Amino acid sequence: MVQLTLPKNSRITKGKSWPKPQGATNLKEFRIYRFDPDGGENPRLDTYYVDLDKCGPMILDAIIKIKNEIDATLTFRRSCREGICGSCAMNIDGTNTLACLKGIDEVSGAVSIYPLPHLPVVKDLVPDMGQFYAQHRSIEPWLKTTSPEPEKEWLQSHEDRVKLDGLYECILCACCQTSCPSYWWNGERYLGPAVLLQAYRWVIDSRDEATGERLDALEDPFRLYRCHTILNCTKACPKNLNPGKAIAELKKMMVERQL
Ligand code: SF4
Ligand code: SF4
Ligand code: FES
Repeated sequence: MVQLTLPKNSRITKGKSWPKPQGATNLKEFRIYRFDPDGGENPRLDTYYVDLDKCGPMILDAIIKIKNEIDATLTFRRSCREGICGSCAMNIDGTNTLACLKGIDEVSGAVSIYPLPHLPVVKDLVPDMGQFYAQHRSIEPWLKTTSPEPEKEWLQSHEDRVKLDGLYECILCACCQTSCPSYWWNGERYLGPAVLLQAYRWVIDSRDEATGERLDALEDPFRLYRCHTILNCTKACPKNLNPGKAIAELKKMMVERQL
């Protein structure tokens, strides 16, 4: 398990304990981070009790139930409910993961839920992803070519297409990015594991014709080389991808092109 520190504004006080639902015999306790930067108060941990006999099996089901039936002010992001959109990424029981893929029964005892760590908090479980998206834009995540446009489409052999497996599935949830100690301390200059995995995805795409330019852009003491191979990122990825390996491959390509 990747144990993580709390969000930046982390002087957390004990918050409200909401009443237990009447007549319920299968209760689960949830301790959820609450913070409204506009309110001027410290963050707090509110406690909620959910009747598991009347709730779906995943953590996201419980959070939605709390919002619908107990406390409509609880704020979080979600969309697909099946691990595709990446928007329900949060820190659950000390680990960054997707609330829609994490079973309630995977957590023994009370469930602690915080926003993704080391990002500014917009409200409650919603972090500000602005820097992360800007970093993703900075690696120019699109096909760059100089050859004349083909009549129909850019072709790729099956063998070259297979090289993208384990990369194209990234949903940009930022679970890895915000579990990386190097990113916590140098997030403004180090690109972080998710963005570097994306950078590698374009560097090894056989159809892309900007490989040298892409590698040049990573040649910097911070953007790539702040990775110290701690591999928190790979442990955290809820899609079982391996950003640590992608970063190692990028570093290898940097060395090989000097030879
Ligand atoms: S392997 Fe690199 S990117 Fe992954 S957690 Fe460690 S320092 Fe961060
Ligand atoms: S590599 Fe995994 S953890 Fe990181 S952003 Fe992509 S899907 Fe999320
Ligand atoms: S709601 Fe889309 S990944 Fe969880």
